[in-house]
Amino acid sequence: MAEPLQIARGKDLTGRRAVVTGAASGMGAAAAARLLAEGAHVLGVDRVGDGIVGTHTLIADLGDADSIASIAGAAESLLGGCDILINNAGVCPSGPFADMAEADWNAALGINVTAVMKLTRALMPLLAASGRGRVVNVGSIMSRYGDAGLVAYTTSKHAVLGLTRALAMELGPQGITVNCVQPGAIATGMTRSLFEDTPGAKDYYAGRSALGRVGQPEDVADVMVFLATDDARFITGQGIMVDGGVMVHS
Ligand SMILES: NC(=O)c1ccc[n+]([C@@H]2O[C@H](COP(=O)([O-])OP(=O)(O)OC[C@H]3O[C@@H](n4cnc5c(N)ncnc54)[C@H](O)[C@@H]3O)[C@@H](O)[C@H]2O)c1
Repeated sequence: MAEPLQIARGKDLTGRRAVVTGAASGMGAAAAARLLAEGAHVLGVDRVGDGIVGTHTLIADLGDADSIASIAGAAESLLGGCDILINNAGVCPSGPFADMAEADWNAALGINVTAVMKLTRALMPLLAASGRGRVVNVGSIMSRYGDAGLVAYTTSKHAVLGLTRALAMELGPQGITVNCVQPGAIATGMTRSLFEDTPGAKDYYAGRSALGRVGQPEDVADVMVFLATDDARFITGQGIMVDGGVMVHS
């Protein structure tokens, strides 16, 4: 007969301490709200102050040299540790490759990749001390395929998946899981102008989904939060498509 499981199970997040970046808008705000609803204490971080969701909030630009240390310091002083890190903040510069400003390339790589690496490393001691540390990164369907006009973004999101897999191996021995969600087209601040100002754009993306609609922030946030629960304890190094079926077909 199989041995009974001697490990924590369940979806309860009461008292867990979470850091969520990009918590003022879109999927980050939805993830922070869901974590709060599940009983977690949340440090919401964003570069804009308006609307950050969290038990505690911190205005910090992940591109600034001293932000990473301030976030780690706030996790320690305000939350008393960190069990969950949701590396959600991201930027999406777009336009023809020939005209791409180096600043756009640097922003995509700097915020979407380097800041994720730095913040994860800064919070590593707290996540290891937790005994059930969880890192949830945000890749994209663009972690799997490429598109014209999105060279820097596509490169950055491929890197997020690679970072996720390598860190899963590196941090596994400390009891930390590392995964990423790979959203499809989601109605957030990032896609607002595309969906509202480009005729037919929203219908085009809805039509590519098996479910006939674009995603809402909560569609993805709920999966991020699942990955932070004890029930997700044996999932690590994965990129999970949350795209309504867009990637099922070509
Ligand atoms: N919306 C989509 O269709 C879609 C699809 C796939 C992946 N994503 C990814 O989802 C994540 C969340 O984006 P969203 O769609 O919710 O967009 P959003 O623009 O609504 O939210 C992103 C948040 O990140 C914050 N942010 C950006 N740069 C920052 C910085 N330097 N420092 C601190 N905060 C910063 C913004 O202020 C904003 O509040 C991003 O990583 C994005 O690349 C989005």
